[in-house]
Amino acid sequence: MSTKWGTHHTDQHVIETTGEQHSCYNLTIMVVAERKILSIVSDKPYFINGNFVLYLGDCLNILSQLLDNSIDMIFADPPYNLSNGGFTVHAGRMVSVDKGLWDISKGFNDDYDFHYRWLEACKRVLKPHGTLWVSGTYHSIYQCGHVLQSLGYHILNDISWFKPNASPNLSCRFFTASHETIIWARKEKKAKHTFNYDLMKNGDWVEDKLKKPNLQMRSVWSVNPPKPEEKKYGKHPTQKPLDLLRRIVLSSTNKGDVVLDPFTGSSTTGIASAMNDRKFIGIDMEKNYLELSKKRFNDLKI
Ligand SMILES: C[S@@+](CC[C@H](N)C(=O)[O-])C[C@H]1O[C@@H](n2cnc3c(N)ncnc32)[C@H](O)[C@@H]1O
Repeated sequence: MSTKWGTHHTDQHVIETTGEQHSCYNLTIMVVAERKILSIVSDKPYFINGNFVLYLGDCLNILSQLLDNSIDMIFADPPYNLSNGGFTVHAGRMVSVDKGLWDISKGFNDDYDFHYRWLEACKRVLKPHGTLWVSGTYHSIYQCGHVLQSLGYHILNDISWFKPNASPNLSCRFFTASHETIIWARKEKKAKHTFNYDLMKNGDWVEDKLKKPNLQMRSVWSVNPPKPEEKKYGKHPTQKPLDLLRRIVLSSTNKGDVVLDPFTGSSTTGIASAMNDRKFIGIDMEKNYLELSKKRFNDLKI
């Protein structure tokens, strides 16, 4: 049976995969553009529909089952390690900064070790010309940057995502944090990576007050938080704006490319990929976030 991912075989017979129906999943071979990307993943996908696949589990486990050199682009939004009992302001009210158990720091060395292991696993599965984006705040991004360089990734840019409506600083003893950093790197120094320069320069970016029409896209992007309709099925505590992921997907991939997000959360990366005809593999260890991802995907008119 042919699906958007290609023909699904087992070693005994061809099987049908539609929507959430799976059989012989541990033997399934997904042929994507003649490449057997998911051929040796023994875990059953949590959800699969056409070119959109979600896995429930630890990304280190799922990544270890993917083929070498099979993914075109990775966007990763790893734990920030900032859930330490602090407070911030939201809609005029004092609220906890804690995002969830997954975001609690295990200490400098263990956090660093985790970043090393997932970034090493991502490098193995990226195609030689593939690129990887990592987002974070100062709590995590410097460790990720150090690891990227230690592993031999070649850094292309560090994007500053400016948040026009950032929460005020409660202590009034230092500056109001109003940006996140997103590092963009390629797997190999000499490879030719994808960058859709003209689209970035001349595309429709009117919501970004810093982007001047017909001038090169710079490395500081002003992007508003997720719009209410992006949260109509509930929200993830660190849900990224669709506008941010749309720009990332469109800048660094082409139609038909395979995009992977090892910390997919509500799958903003997957929604941006599906809306723009890219294939998507998302991983998260929290079932309720994958349920939210499913609802967002099922709502798409594609
Ligand atoms: C910062 S959030 C990602 C939010 C996402 N970008 C979005 O737009 O919704 C990080 C996610 O990583 C997940 N996570 C943390 N550790 C993980 C691990 N080892 N393997 C897989 N997922 C993990 C958390 O459950 C959380 O949903």
